[in-house]
Amino acid sequence: MNALRLGASRLAPSAARSVSNTFQREAGASASNFFQNTTSNKWFSTNQSLNELGSVDHAFTDDRIDKVAEPERRAFTYLMLSGVRFAYASTARVLVVKFVSSMSASADVLALASAEFDLGEIDEGKTITVKWRGKPVFIRHRTPGEIDTEAAVPMAHLRDQEADDERVHKPEWLVVLGICTHLGCVPISGAGDFNGWFCPCHGSHYDVSGRIRKGPAPLNLEVPPYKFVDEKKILIG
Ligand code: FES
Repeated sequence: MNALRLGASRLAPSAARSVSNTFQREAGASASNFFQNTTSNKWFSTNQSLNELGSVDHAFTDDRIDKVAEPERRAFTYLMLSGVRFAYASTARVLVVKFVSSMSASADVLALASAEFDLGEIDEGKTITVKWRGKPVFIRHRTPGEIDTEAAVPMAHLRDQEADDERVHKPEWLVVLGICTHLGCVPISGAGDFNGWFCPCHGSHYDVSGRIRKGPAPLNLEVPPYKFVDEKKILIG
């Protein structure tokens, strides 16, 4: 019981009051060996080895923050914590901005995104190969005979059905990527059964509109995005 009282005295005042109200020594009971819980009406031994309350560890009163902390340093602690968190947030923001900006194209890459080409030097019936975004591009100055031939090809003869006039901005100029649509070889200009391009890798034949006519390639040569900036100049890209 002494231990109980000692424990209760070390608790917070309200807790101590509660303990002393709840437990009463038995009047005239066999001395100090038992006490009664007035709420549950149960009897308990004061033997420390049996008494549940003998295990009170006083953690609530011993470990209360306002008893161990120094209140006058609290503002300083908050200031320091806020400063550190602000520094972390700023660093994270800078890293995110750098990461996002690294994903956009650099100025030299943007400059290569489009390229202008002069067509004035290309004679009728000739093809030149230029480079755009690291890929070969064929520019062919078609003759009136080639234009007529390609315009007359029946759709039923085409694996990848596209009319000739859908593939050109001006009939005399054909602009296509020089990459075989089978496995990516560079076809040879002015060769093959249709006088357009021939891919020697596996034998694909393209006509003078860049359409696949024979061999394993599944699609026509791709037409890149381009426009005429004047009569004899195109901008690809
Ligand atoms: S890569 Fe051209 S035919 Fe196979």
